Amino acid sequence: MSDSIVLAYSGGVDTSVAIKWIPEHYKMDVITLTVDIGNVPDLEAIRKKAIKLGVKKAYVIDAREEFIRDYCFPALQADAIYEGSYPLATALGRPLIARLMARVALENGATAVAHGCTGKGNDQVRLDVGINTLAPDLKIVAPAREWGMTREQTIRYAQRNGIPIPVTKKSPYSIDENLWGRAVECGILEDPWNEAPEDAFIWTKSPERTPDKPAYLEIEFVKGIPVSLDGEKLDAIALLDRLNKIAGENGVGRIDHIENRLVGIKSREVYEAPAATVLLKAHLALEELNLTKQQLRFKQKVAVEYSDLIYNGLWFSAMHQDLAAYVQSTQRFITGSVRVKLFKGTCMVVGRKSKYSLYSFKLATYDREDVFDQRHSVGFIQLWGLPTRTQAQLQPVYELNSPLKSHQKRQKRMK
Ligand code: ARG
Repeated sequence: MSDSIVLAYSGGVDTSVAIKWIPEHYKMDVITLTVDIGNVPDLEAIRKKAIKLGVKKAYVIDAREEFIRDYCFPALQADAIYEGSYPLATALGRPLIARLMARVALENGATAVAHGCTGKGNDQVRLDVGINTLAPDLKIVAPAREWGMTREQTIRYAQRNGIPIPVTKKSPYSIDENLWGRAVECGILEDPWNEAPEDAFIWTKSPERTPDKPAYLEIEFVKGIPVSLDGEKLDAIALLDRLNKIAGENGVGRIDHIENRLVGIKSREVYEAPAATVLLKAHLALEELNLTKQQLRFKQKVAVEYSDLIYNGLWFSAMHQDLAAYVQSTQRFITGSVRVKLFKGTCMVVGRKSKYSLYSFKLATYDREDVFDQRHSVGFIQLWGLPTRTQAQLQPVYELNSPLKSHQKRQKRMK
């Protein structure tokens, strides 16, 4: 009996070819694993296809709920957006897939796992690091990183081996999608000067074609987790489905980003992330209301670190656990509602309320109810400006008439 290998199987050309390629090169029996995180339209069809291609076993796992609960929502609570643009959909999906691959492998006594990633992207890193961390004894095979075939050659290999290729017009793009977003790469997008054509987008309408009236939406959060839309409690999957639809309908969530990959390449990435875009904005709006200035400032720094570690495949690290614990702690009062206005590709927060709000009308108002004692500001300003005044008296930093000139003169004098 030969060893078994668990292949992460999407049903696409590359992983279908891998089903035949692996036994040819590694003499192992292939078990496929298809994980649904909101990307798989027909699980049963994919399972049947794998069986037809002669695999030993074909697993399909619906992991949508786990994906949202344990990966997307914690990232939302952290305000994780890579390089200020990318809500990290693909990056969040990989650790979950890695974990399920390792689990299915161990359950089946398999000695290896395989995936369809190439050697140029981030996904290989995320899967390999995840698997190496969780199940270090498993060998990892990445056929697309090893076989050295071009796209054409892969297709010819498929034809020679009786692997069905979808007859529908082949998409000119490389696409990865899940409930948190859709990533589109390659083809005409590889020239960063080209505007992404309409056919790159599936979830979002072009703002030119969206309704002429805005859509308003109220999102309720409990401890940083969205729980209802317009007052209707929804489970996580339904909430994301519905939000993707409404926001997409209004053209919200299109992202065009020149991204720094971990492997050193800059790549042009086009994303659609309607629900994630709206939730990230709304969540931050609630934090602005309920966290102090220091909390917000520090949390922004953590958000950058957190996004980087998700992007860079370090989900299963102690660093992640530590940051996640901090983030959880910050969310204990992020309960309340946010009202957003979706219109022609934009999502604007137009209202927020919470029983934990730190906004005090009595402090902010200029009306009669004002309780802010303006006399205190005089002394406060004295002390706040003290170091700057002291410095000005002892060091000629600025001149009244030409502040810059005095600085330049001094520089010259110092030379
Ligand atoms: N650049 C994004 C990331 O690294 C998206 C990757 C999409 N993957 C794909 N196979 N098309 O997270």
